[in-house]
Amino acid sequence: MKKLDVILICDTMGETPQNRNYLELFKKKEYKTERQCYESLKNLGHDIRVVGIYDDIRPLLDAVAEKKPDIFFNLVEHFHGQSFYERNIVGLFELLQIPYTGSNPAAMVLCKNKGITKEILSHHHIHVSKFKIFYRGCRVYHPKWLKYPVIIKPLRDESSYGISNASVISNDTDLKERANFIHDNLAQDVIAEEYIEGRELYVSMLGNRIITTFPIRELKLPIENEGPQIATYKVKWDPEYRKKWKVRYGFAYLKDPVLEKKIIETSKRVYKILRIRGYARIDIRLTSDKEVFVIEANPNPGITKDDDFALSARKHGLNFDDLVSKILSLGLEYNEDSSIQE
Ligand SMILES: Nc1ncnc2c1ncn2[C@@H]1O[C@H](COP(=O)(O)OP(=O)(O)O)[C@@H](O)[C@H]1O
Ligand SMILES: [Mg+2]
Repeated sequence: MKKLDVILICDTMGETPQNRNYLELFKKKEYKTERQCYESLKNLGHDIRVVGIYDDIRPLLDAVAEKKPDIFFNLVEHFHGQSFYERNIVGLFELLQIPYTGSNPAAMVLCKNKGITKEILSHHHIHVSKFKIFYRGCRVYHPKWLKYPVIIKPLRDESSYGISNASVISNDTDLKERANFIHDNLAQDVIAEEYIEGRELYVSMLGNRIITTFPIRELKLPIENEGPQIATYKVKWDPEYRKKWKVRYGFAYLKDPVLEKKIIETSKRVYKILRIRGYARIDIRLTSDKEVFVIEANPNPGITKDDDFALSARKHGLNFDDLVSKILSLGLEYNEDSSIQE
């Protein structure tokens, strides 16, 4: 690949370092992904500028005015501290007519609202949970057709924010209590989904029109009644908690090539149906009778070296620099090929 002028763009937690020296900020552990991507872009020989944004887009516009980059390496997940605005930042790249890595605004609209995702996937006969949405300010009740146990989640969030063992409930009192808790304390609308019991699988993939899938990962949870049964916030982010309950992330051994193919094919269909570009991770639950349920699709998933996505890519034969390079070229290809724009 030729040498590119790359703007690595990320969101900050409201802290603008002195002289906009983001490399100083990247020394903090919260900026591990940014640091690793920066180092990788450097290894690949590109010219890199870093822009951090929080609640003001001017730093982005200033950098573009100074010199128009070949591409944005997009690591922005929030604006105004909210993941909801991720799509608008990508929309801004489009207005500026500058290529960028990862998904477009359409995929973000379809994937970041867990209700919209399921409406579309069920239209295409992909198995998803039955669900009911409770908007803030509206009455929470139990519709008869929604079978317990049910899992209560924020409608538009990620990283298991607002998800704990108390999210899986089996009666009307708990349903109301948990939904109201999310309305009142997290200021979010709520989705109540039928709980799917089964193995939890993560399918990582990349591509625009042609999709490459990587070896499937699995969240290995303790047997029932002996610890967490879902990927709660603590499971995802607290290694001590995982150790205590013997929760492990690893590769999935399915011992059934036909089933494995079914999971991969379903994941590829999800990727296409939801207009995902660049790279993504699809979260799946596999029931004991081998039904494949899609829990959610994550465009622009975390790509830290020790995240499922990068570990899957590595097992497939792509080291981190290869992965970053692939993500860059898919961003450029997407921009050049209008037939894959939406
Ligand atoms: N319908 C469901 N059935 C069973 N488990 C679920 C269901 N929905 C979510 N979960 C569990 O909760 C975790 C987080 O839910 P998810 O929708 O992926 O939210 P997030 O966007 O925060 O990752 C999943 O990884 C899974 O363990
Ligand atoms: Mg998830």
